[in-house]
Amino acid sequence: MVSIVFQDTHTFKCINIFRNTNHAPEDVPVTLDKTLKDLQLEYVDLYLIHWPVSMKPGSVDFKPENLMPTNIPSIWEAMEKVYDSGKARVIGVSNFSTKKLGDLLQVARIRPAVNQVECHPSWQQTKLREFCESNEVHLSAYSPLGSPGTTWLKSDVLKQPAVISVAEKLGKTPAQVCLRWGIQMGQSVLPKSTHEARIKENLDVLNWSIPDDLLAKFSEIPQARLLRGTSFANETHGQYRTLEELWDDEI
Ligand code: A2P
Repeated sequence: MVSIVFQDTHTFKCINIFRNTNHAPEDVPVTLDKTLKDLQLEYVDLYLIHWPVSMKPGSVDFKPENLMPTNIPSIWEAMEKVYDSGKARVIGVSNFSTKKLGDLLQVARIRPAVNQVECHPSWQQTKLREFCESNEVHLSAYSPLGSPGTTWLKSDVLKQPAVISVAEKLGKTPAQVCLRWGIQMGQSVLPKSTHEARIKENLDVLNWSIPDDLLAKFSEIPQARLLRGTSFANETHGQYRTLEELWDDEI
């Protein structure tokens, strides 16, 4: 379970993402009830399926034998019931490819409102964003700075020459430029920082904009997904034999 609780906001108070191990339809409401109890809340604003990947209940690591077949329509039906109960004001998904989102939209009684995915100048999600826009699904960006402190990811988003040159021209930091780019693309951005000065810096992205001529520079940036989900593709276990299947070739 991953929860983001905002203490002072007029939009979302709590976003909750539940674990891949809790995908059995009967586990979905139980998991949310536990979260609500832990957080002493009556409802969450947004409840997301974390990955289109199911793992054995109770398992804690990403061993292949913990992977299970994934039935997205049945998980979604359980999400719809949670929505009906009023305990989640909005429901959505995370890490869904354009195809998986499209397939879900075909069967959903209540449409997913959000797809939260990796998105930053080095993985711009152009195809997915266009699909989300035309289907009224909000794209929300995790790792909007490319998660520079994460040792297992080879991130150089903040060091991209195009990002640095736009930042220098506008008198902003590379991080601010990445976040402002995301906002101008129409997505919400979810940067993380443990430093107060950076949190303030990351919030200062609303009263200025990147002009069109500089925005065009972002198309020069080489594209690569950072978080590839390699543990979720396996030749013999789980739903996806390859990463191409997991991401439906968006990799
Ligand atoms: P720190 O916690 O030391 O500030 P993302 O949100 O893309 O996953 O990135 C999170 C990482 O980016 C964290 O390691 C965080 O480190 C770092 N970070 C957050 N804000 C900034 C910033 N304004 N400039 C540089 N690094 C930042």
